[in-house]
Amino acid sequence: MKVEQEWDGEILRELSPEWAGKIIFLPECGSTNDEAHKLALKGAVHHSIVLTEFQTAGRGRRGQAWSCPRGEGLACSMIVRPKAAPALWSRHALAAGLALAEALDVFGLSAGVKWPNDVWVGGKKICGILVEAGSDFVIVGIGLNINVRMFPDDLAHPATSIALGTGAVVSREEVLISLLHRLRVRLEQIDAGFPELMKAWATRCVLTGNQIELESNGRLTTGCMEGLSANGELLVRTPGGIKKFLQANTIRLR
Ligand code: BTN
Repeated sequence: MKVEQEWDGEILRELSPEWAGKIIFLPECGSTNDEAHKLALKGAVHHSIVLTEFQTAGRGRRGQAWSCPRGEGLACSMIVRPKAAPALWSRHALAAGLALAEALDVFGLSAGVKWPNDVWVGGKKICGILVEAGSDFVIVGIGLNINVRMFPDDLAHPATSIALGTGAVVSREEVLISLLHRLRVRLEQIDAGFPELMKAWATRCVLTGNQIELESNGRLTTGCMEGLSANGELLVRTPGGIKKFLQANTIRLR
């Protein structure tokens, strides 16, 4: 079944008057992260959101492309003006992944998080998050498969969508509003509330206790994922002891 629909501004305003003034809708753009970056440089306020129907140059991590059929997903980027010090900005990825997973609860899906910022349902990737820092702001870019039912064969990971997970076409506006509510809660915990955020994150982590293979700074590490440090670093038990990672290019379950 082909599902194609436009974002409904009226529904968004009704569902969420508090966000309406902050959503900048572009029918089409290259990448919402790039558009948000430009707006942030021009002074766009905290929590402004660039939302588009279609990206012609959507980006993922490590220079990978991100694409989603018109009318079937969510592609948006939020401008965050953090109170926290830049050393803590990498936590936005954890907060956004957790918020996304929690937002999916509303639709009856059981979503897990894969460090640092993928969201998985039933062993497949449902959402990608691209966090990019500017001089005094952070862009949190979110690509979520909502009503997508067919994926290209050549994806790096098996993919799924809310529609495939639930068997129903869902309102993209309701998904967005559910996400924004959770995002606000979790982004506010990046500084003082981080222990609480980490506790919730740990309950959803799909890697904990599993053997993983991880590539960081050109080096491959294999071991058992033990959990996260108090700062959100990934802890891997290796024959040489526990190793900590603040970033990794790839992580695979073995
Ligand atoms: C990944 O899994 O590698 C991250 C994918 C992030 C995709 C989103 S879609 C909205 C925003 N704009 C982009 O160009 N990328 C992010």
